[in-house]
Amino acid sequence: VMYRLTRYRQHNLPIDSPGFYVYIKSENGAVWSPGFRPCEVKLDSWQAVHQPGVTSFHAEYDGVKAALTFLVSQTDDVLIWKLDLNSTDGRARKLDVYAYTEFSQLSWKNEDLYGYYDRLQLKTWYDENASCINYLFHSGNYPAGHEVPLAFFAGSEPVVSYSGNRNTFIGNYGSEAMPKGVCADRLLNDTISCGEPAAALHNQVVLNADGSTKELCFYLGAQQDPINNLEECENSRNAVLDKLRCAGETSRQLSKVQQWWEHHLSALQCEIPDAAGMRQINTFSVMNSVVTGRYSRSLNIDAPGVRGVGFRDTCQDMLAICYRDPAWAIDTLKFLMSLQYADGHALHMAYRHEWFEPATSVHCDDHLWLVYLVYAILAETGDLSLLEEPVPYYGEEKQTATVWQHLQKALDFTSGNLGRHGLPIILRSDWNDIIGKFNQRGEGESVFAGQQYVYALRQMIELAQATGRDASELQSRLATMEKAILENAWDGKWWRRAFDDNGDAVGSDKCKFGKIFLNTQSWALISATGTTEQNTQAMQSAEAQLATDIGLKLLNPSFAGWNSEEGKTPVGYGAGCGENGAIFCHSNTWAVIAQALLGNGEKAWKYFSQLIPHNIISKIGIDCYKAEPYAWVSNIVGPENTQFGWGNVSQISGTAPWMDVAATQYILGIRPQLDGLLISPCAPEQWTEFSIRRRYRGCDLQIKIKQSGNGGTVKTFTIDGKPAALDSNGKAKVPAELTHNATKLVIDIALG
Ligand code: GLC
Repeated sequence: VMYRLTRYRQHNLPIDSPGFYVYIKSENGAVWSPGFRPCEVKLDSWQAVHQPGVTSFHAEYDGVKAALTFLVSQTDDVLIWKLDLNSTDGRARKLDVYAYTEFSQLSWKNEDLYGYYDRLQLKTWYDENASCINYLFHSGNYPAGHEVPLAFFAGSEPVVSYSGNRNTFIGNYGSEAMPKGVCADRLLNDTISCGEPAAALHNQVVLNADGSTKELCFYLGAQQDPINNLEECENSRNAVLDKLRCAGETSRQLSKVQQWWEHHLSALQCEIPDAAGMRQINTFSVMNSVVTGRYSRSLNIDAPGVRGVGFRDTCQDMLAICYRDPAWAIDTLKFLMSLQYADGHALHMAYRHEWFEPATSVHCDDHLWLVYLVYAILAETGDLSLLEEPVPYYGEEKQTATVWQHLQKALDFTSGNLGRHGLPIILRSDWNDIIGKFNQRGEGESVFAGQQYVYALRQMIELAQATGRDASELQSRLATMEKAILENAWDGKWWRRAFDDNGDAVGSDKCKFGKIFLNTQSWALISATGTTEQNTQAMQSAEAQLATDIGLKLLNPSFAGWNSEEGKTPVGYGAGCGENGAIFCHSNTWAVIAQALLGNGEKAWKYFSQLIPHNIISKIGIDCYKAEPYAWVSNIVGPENTQFGWGNVSQISGTAPWMDVAATQYILGIRPQLDGLLISPCAPEQWTEFSIRRRYRGCDLQIKIKQSGNGGTVKTFTIDGKPAALDSNGKAKVPAELTHNATKLVIDIALG
């Protein structure tokens, strides 16, 4: 079960509060925070370091240095706050330290709806023996039988005073920046049995004149099932605290976190001549992909816990997980497949461990993403027996079908729902949430979903051939859909996007709004539909009409808006917002891939690197971009809007896994296939040398690339110093047999 323990008020002022706050009070009464917030005292020096699993703040103020580090334990449900303090000016110091956090009512959504009642159904209390503040929320507004956790906050040092009450800690007309509790000598040692729960702990520290470091830790944790068995719950909490308080335990916890991340990070690391790009590929993209992989669409700073597992979203998230942790991807695949109905379509939105009702609307694309995920897993592991494993259909727990049958049903669902042009009927929508607006009467068709179907069929044909199945029926379906696309979707200079209920083209030069959409241009290449001339032209049209200084718009021109007189207004999104013509980063990832497939290394890299948050922030400033500097955003407000440049929906976006795929598989060109690892980079010409380390089927591949010119041709290809054969397309591919028999292979490739 997932709960939100601490509060975050998303529309709050000041922006971005509350948080995990530490206050340091000097003997002269001056108060400051090593994290800068909430005191906002100008510090003598300050640095924030965001690393996989660990965030730390390094601050110095008035002769005291503080390092505040946050990490989530791998072994227990605890957020560890580690505070290191030392005197830097040769004076001994006596400091008062306060650690403070505000508890929530466990669910952001419920709290908004019922908070004013539910605050009468909670309590905080202090446990003298464990030196620990406890919090229990137990409201009748949660479905019966749900086991809420016991939350606790404790520290490593003796507690001087405490409070479990937000309102007395902050004080009437007080503020987080200067709580009345911190201004007083002592906190009130008060707890509540209704009201606004919080935990504040007060410690005193003596710093030696010699500058030696004093470490203090705080533990914000949760323990299962206090309602049914409080004693056991408290005993387990005590056991956790006893362990955490042992000497050296924080460093052990830190190294466990680092090891966990190392497992994910070490699947692929590259050295390329671009510092921001390298940091993004090696670290930040991985962190972001792991976050979306874990939490799907349920977690970001704006909307914690409000959405669930998006079917298509999680299928895509797993593309970046399947080579880091195939077992995790397989487990998630089986969960997703168990949400597929026997007719082939899939449950659009679900919750893995929650009680909310799933979303049942039928989309024309959800089920197709399953094919790509299965292909990606098998290309990674090579273990085709997965196709024969049984997985139940949604709502039919007993009746099971194999993974292969699930995929067949996915194809059947699409082929069973085609419209007058032979293209998939949009149903509720396709990948693009607003396309459904063109299908009010059930006759609108999606070109994009047609391309997706083609791509899925190509992969299914490969899978059929690899497992000795007859692929002829799949081939004839492929030919039929390709024909429908070629006959109906080419607009002259680009690919159309859809057809509305009347059979009129959407994304055509004839349209006043939404003349061109990005996705059908990139997916023409991804699905290998249309000629090279058509697709080169389509990507040129996309560049000419959709490019801005910071990325490509999803469509152009944006629809005028909900009150337009034009009639065909897709949604309430203003021009340049969200799906109505924003720079939709997720779609940009496919444009990166499309440029790489066309062999345009410069463009592919430009499309990738211009969206790296660090690069955007350097160009337009953080006040304009507003989003985190280390995570991808879903979309950036486009130039038709006065808020041009504002990055939205950070973290939980398909941008993360697909940027990972675009960079690692298409720019670096390390592309797993059923029979081995293709190495086919498409990088800028200035990259004359770069290298990649990749884990593949248990083998450590150390790949060095030398490149002259545009790198289009393989000049030499050696494995462990011996010349190796190129594949039938003249590309360097490491055959699967080799990786099975070796633990390490050194690969050198010269491109020219
Ligand atoms: C959001 C949704 C995703 C959808 C996309 C485009 O990112 O989470 O499911 O495909 O928007 O509409």
